[in-house]
Amino acid sequence: MAIKLVTTVAELRKESARLLAEKGGSSQGLVPTMGALHSGHASLARTAVAENDVVVATIFVNPLQFGDAVDLDRYPRTLEADMALLDAEGVDLVFAPDVDEVYPGGQPLVRVTSGPLGEKWEGASRPGHFDGALTVVAKLLHYGLPGGPAADGTTAAYRAYFGQKDAQQLALVKRMVADLNFPVEIVPVPIVRSEDGLALSSRNRFLSDQEREAALVLSRALRLIESRANAHQPLDLDSAVALVDSQPLVELDYFDVVDPTTLEPLAENCKETPFRGEGLAIIAAKVGPVRLIDNIPLDS
Ligand code: PAJ
Repeated sequence: MAIKLVTTVAELRKESARLLAEKGGSSQGLVPTMGALHSGHASLARTAVAENDVVVATIFVNPLQFGDAVDLDRYPRTLEADMALLDAEGVDLVFAPDVDEVYPGGQPLVRVTSGPLGEKWEGASRPGHFDGALTVVAKLLHYGLPGGPAADGTTAAYRAYFGQKDAQQLALVKRMVADLNFPVEIVPVPIVRSEDGLALSSRNRFLSDQEREAALVLSRALRLIESRANAHQPLDLDSAVALVDSQPLVELDYFDVVDPTTLEPLAENCKETPFRGEGLAIIAAKVGPVRLIDNIPLDS
């Protein structure tokens, strides 16, 4: 394996500086993850490798963003397989710290507050989740800063990669970086799905065969909305909701069409009159023991 594993921030910075100098590089990409990696994460890594001279992936299951200790405990940990996947994509360095490295003083007193954008949709059913996620993303973005200058002495470019799968997280990270002037470019990466349409997620492994089959209604309902948008028809959300409700194993939480940046619902008349413009159809549902989220961008 060419890939290298480090577990402390000091080693990470040293290795990043070494790699930039050794490769004569001028850019560094960061791919933050919680591990249990699948093709969705691989796509982030591949994009980062294509666009940067040095690529760092982080693997850290962040206790601060889990409301439920059971959910935290059962989060899959598969470091060896994760390293192999990242190595195959050409990632240079993996930073996999333990909890004490990231939170040496215990839980941090000062945190990032996600504000109203973090309280709706996913935030409504997972209080504190986005504050916890943004706090660790802020720390990871700092850890992942290029450890030295570009080969020509200028500041190395710095990019971080986030999946559109977690649309609200992506919107919040973009806002944090803009509002607090982080010196990093946030690069969104499209959702990777299995052949039958299910958005890949580390949590899919907890679905039974029957539940997995039932879960396909989420992407089907999103595609229905997308096809209406592309045909400039009214989106008729109600009939798409009815499709999801017809599946007894699926308990719908929310399904709406929102502005991609503010995540505010589009006005009703955009849903009832022929659709034109930009939007994001978002859905969340509980299927068996698992909460699933999915979305599809609309642009017509
Ligand atoms: P995690 O769930 O491991 O996801 C890491 C990154 O992979 C996120 O940016 C997520 O949107 C992306 N991703 C997951 N499934 C995807 C798919 N099917 N297609 C495309 N991208 C996908 O998100 C987190 O970790 C954490 O909240 C983190 C940002 C690491 C902070 O702890």
